[in-house]
Amino acid sequence: MNAQPTSSLDRAPQVNVSSYIRGTGMSVPDRVIPNSYFESYLETNDQWIRERTGIIERRWAEPTMSMSDLALPACERAIASAGLTAADIDGIVVATVTPDYVFPSTACVLQKKLGIRGSLAFDVNAVCSGFVYALVTAEGLVRSGAATNMLVVGADMFSRLIDPNDRTTAILFGDGAGAMVLSAAGESNTAPTGGPRVPVIGSPRTTRGIYGSQLHADGSHGDLLCVPGGTAAPVTPESLRDNKHYLTMNGREIFKLAVRGLAEVSDSLLKRHGMEVGDVDHYISHQANARILTAVAKQLGLPVEKLALNVEKYGNTSAARVPLLLAECVSTGRVQQGDLVLISAFGAGLTWGAVLVRM
Ligand code: UT7
Repeated sequence: MNAQPTSSLDRAPQVNVSSYIRGTGMSVPDRVIPNSYFESYLETNDQWIRERTGIIERRWAEPTMSMSDLALPACERAIASAGLTAADIDGIVVATVTPDYVFPSTACVLQKKLGIRGSLAFDVNAVCSGFVYALVTAEGLVRSGAATNMLVVGADMFSRLIDPNDRTTAILFGDGAGAMVLSAAGESNTAPTGGPRVPVIGSPRTTRGIYGSQLHADGSHGDLLCVPGGTAAPVTPESLRDNKHYLTMNGREIFKLAVRGLAEVSDSLLKRHGMEVGDVDHYISHQANARILTAVAKQLGLPVEKLALNVEKYGNTSAARVPLLLAECVSTGRVQQGDLVLISAFGAGLTWGAVLVRM
């Protein structure tokens, strides 16, 4: 006699997996900027920052450090934790809006610094959702057979973009990098033959890998969070003089749209896979503001103990937020192999998305 299904995971359809997270790593600059730093020259205070954002401190890189300098240790740690060497990496995608140069891409710079050649390498720009976009892109490349071990990096240095005299934004952002190795799963972990890989079909209770994803964008709200400096808004001596080259944000609007976007995309992705929020072991979401995350958890009915948080230590590190949090949770043992993790992010563009993965 068949056992009665006991949870939505028993009723959920089988999963179709082409890649799995094989290793993670993170790096942050040494320099700690506590809330008291801003009290010294802005009309703000530690209590306001903690209560309205959850942030206690953030890290800012020294001016001599480049994005790739900061990201390299995260990449090396991810590769080592995957049990691989740099020579095994055959694809690099870096999510960043603070690259070393306009071009070449930071992915190409990192490829050189890692001492490898020939692998595909490129950057993606989806701001705070960048890592989720990069991960979904990498998953597609592995699934297609174009790569076997993708290095997926989220890295940003927003200390270079903020107006230090704008109390509404200067307090929010930090610098950081996170990386992961995404490898071909199971039987499909063979050399590409020129065609798509054969995916692993398995139980959603036990099969490791990326189960699915959803990405969204709404360019009509691009003005809510932006940094001028491109061909449409070049930096000129006048714009520099008037401090018009810095990041600007309508925080209140972004806050509302972030709560809605994160909750909707998370719920929709779970439903698409026949799962419920109770099946998720950890919710690893973009960390811009602790209040955004508690509001999202409430809307989803997610118990707060499943909500991973480290915004208090690093602030909003943009594309680095998700991989930095995931790598920290793996290194502390909070996230274990076999756990079901729901990843989500929201950022400028506007862009948002989610990925469902069993570690
Ligand atoms: O990565 C994705 C992008 N970013 C985000 O998701 C950020 C989303 N937004 C937020 O996190 C919040 O909107 C903020 C933290 C930016 C602001 O918090 P809020 O609770 O939405 O504050 P508010 O903008 O409604 O401002 C309330 C008051 C204002 O004063 P008045 O007009 O009421 O007199 C602000 O001028 O707080 C004032 N304020 C501050 N006061 C002390 C704004 N920043 C500060 C500050 N210190 N640093």
